[in-house]
Amino acid sequence: MAGRIDDEYQALKARAHQMVVERLDEEGIEVGRVSRERLVEFIRAAASKYIAQSRIPLSNRDVSQLSNDLVDEVTGYGPLEPLLSDPRVNDILVNGPDSVYTEVSGVLHKAAVRFIDDDHVMRIIRRILAPLGRRLDESSPMVDARLPDGSRVNAIIPPLALDGPSISIRKFSQDMLTADQLLANGSMTQECLQVLKQAVEGRRNIIISGGTGTGKTTMLNMISHYIPRNERILTIEDSAELSLRHPHVVRLETRPPNTEGKGRVTSRDLVVNALRMRPDRIIVGEVRSSEIIELLQAMNTGHDGSMSTLHANSSRDALVRIETLLAISGYEASEQSISRLIASAVDLIVQLVRTADGRRMVREVVAVEQDDQFRCVLKPIYRSEDDTRMVS
Ligand SMILES: Nc1ncnc2c1ncn2[C@@H]1O[C@H](COP(=O)(O)OP(=O)(O)OP(=O)(O)O)[C@@H](O)[C@H]1O
Ligand SMILES: [Mg+2]
Repeated sequence: MAGRIDDEYQALKARAHQMVVERLDEEGIEVGRVSRERLVEFIRAAASKYIAQSRIPLSNRDVSQLSNDLVDEVTGYGPLEPLLSDPRVNDILVNGPDSVYTEVSGVLHKAAVRFIDDDHVMRIIRRILAPLGRRLDESSPMVDARLPDGSRVNAIIPPLALDGPSISIRKFSQDMLTADQLLANGSMTQECLQVLKQAVEGRRNIIISGGTGTGKTTMLNMISHYIPRNERILTIEDSAELSLRHPHVVRLETRPPNTEGKGRVTSRDLVVNALRMRPDRIIVGEVRSSEIIELLQAMNTGHDGSMSTLHANSSRDALVRIETLLAISGYEASEQSISRLIASAVDLIVQLVRTADGRRMVREVVAVEQDDQFRCVLKPIYRSEDDTRMVS
């Protein structure tokens, strides 16, 4: 993956790219209309000729690196390509042209790639957005999108992003981690898995809680495999990530507003609609807004075994977060009835954490019960003994 990232090379690449684009134009070659082989051949030939003509002293290795970079530039997402095709990389974070980081096995590393300048970053963002018909400019400076392979992308540009256009990508993993893999890498114990399996089979309502990137979606996906095969599942996500190997799943996805600001379909709309679709269980990818009201009500009214994830750093915080989401969504009720609603809806909270060395693990599984004053009480069912170096 390591490539040349010095300024001299970047300037050469910019010139060579310009030249290749012109040559393609002259020859009337439209990217996307000719075979990839033909395009790659053309670009390589044009790049070699350019270097020979301009008498630039380059090692064979650099020439072949330049050709590869130009192919990525013309046919794909430029400097992001080698990172996207590296299976070890989970997240790609572009903070500006020469500040690109990747996450590998839970740890951030500075990547050996860079963009030429801000315009180059913008060009790649526009290429990601083009097939989706989404726009990004000063009047709408942040956007969520998806790559054709399902990877999640967020882009935010100046004036909101102070140091230049910034991109965050969570790569889509074709194969979500399985229970065996989570056991093998120490994310949970056999005892923990048994608790989770019984909870799912026993139709308990489960909230998976954790900080960013702690493995919430992965855990939700894993435990969903224990849903009996004869049940009907409805999944609701902002960006479809779950891959349930289950015979009876209906997948729903929210929709952002179009360029005129219309046509938005929220998670809450979808939960309401899902309830009319005779679900046995509802799975909401992540609760982050007013859909919490419908989800809790669904959990309370015959859709036992529903599940979701929530952003919180401890199981206690998860309760507070639910209360906050209810409050900001305009759910008006006494403190007591709110506690009662939460305690009767949510049976279990599974708290995930990330350790300082990048490992993800289940910190604890707690049952949500009520005391005689109807306050929520958390009863530990499983707790990791490996409590060292946990950060969030
Ligand atoms: N237990 C685990 N062990 C190792 N890697 C994991 C584990 N759980 C998840 N991962 C990896 O970590 C990354 C983030 O996982 P996931 O999307 O499940 O997290 P998340 O908490 O849902 O993130 P977000 O906050 O962005 O929604 C993925 O690349 C995933 O493969
Ligand atoms: Mg997630």
